Amino acid sequence: MTTGAAKLAPSILAADFARLGDQVAEAERAGADRIHVDVMDGHFVPNLSMGAVVVKSLRRVTRLPLEVHLMIFNPDFFLDEFAQAGADSFLVHWEGNTDLSRTVQRIKALGKGAGVAINPATPASVLEDIMPDLDQVLVMTVNPGFGHQHFLPTTLPKISRAREMIERIRPPCSLEVDGGIDATSAPRAVAAGADVLVAGSAIFNDSVRNSAKWDRRERRTRFYPPPCGEGRREAPGWGSCDDPLTDPHPQPLPTRGRGAD
Ligand code: DX5
Ligand code: ZN
Repeated sequence: MTTGAAKLAPSILAADFARLGDQVAEAERAGADRIHVDVMDGHFVPNLSMGAVVVKSLRRVTRLPLEVHLMIFNPDFFLDEFAQAGADSFLVHWEGNTDLSRTVQRIKALGKGAGVAINPATPASVLEDIMPDLDQVLVMTVNPGFGHQHFLPTTLPKISRAREMIERIRPPCSLEVDGGIDATSAPRAVAAGADVLVAGSAIFNDSVRNSAKWDRRERRTRFYPPPCGEGRREAPGWGSCDDPLTDPHPQPLPTRGRGAD
């Protein structure tokens, strides 16, 4: 079982696009490990987001790795364009890809990191045969297509199964979770085996700004519930302001390797 701090991948889907460069630079200064770029085609998921032009612009303003999450049909068609724009790694979905091995081989041939994502209803077992070729597995903890959704606790056992498979088949492979990651769900996902956390609204959204901070001294990410009364998002597990458990001076929650196991 891997130890150490979980890494943070801010998802720019929740960022203010009017000042995207500033927001990414802010995330880099705050200690983000990489930037997560959600690409949606309106078919694979019922939403549209951004193309390679955004990656090209971000490449100029950050040294952080750019991780492109392709929620699109026919990802092969766009790999070269995103690679040329400056993408460092790709997350392609198992669902809807009849030639996943070829897609993964193409990504590796481009010299990029190759990851496969699975939706909440897809069992981890589908990854068994492709895993030897992977640098990363992404377990979706919400149904893809939108940010600011609630974390699905039903995905926790699957995170543990994916962790077990990685340890058995491909230990260097990282295990990322994506969707509804915040002060409550982050330690649960890490305890289940995740070592990379994608977070959008928990980082960029005004109503929960600054709930994820990088602790330079301890070199790990700390999640804080927002102070009482400041536009707190009603999410399970954060408690109400008059809840005795809700300390007005919240303490950081444990992350992987400390009190998580
Ligand atoms: C959803 C995307 C996620 C999303 C995360 O389909 O893949 O990356 O932006 O946003 P939050 O953290 O707000 O759930
Ligand atoms: Zn994503």
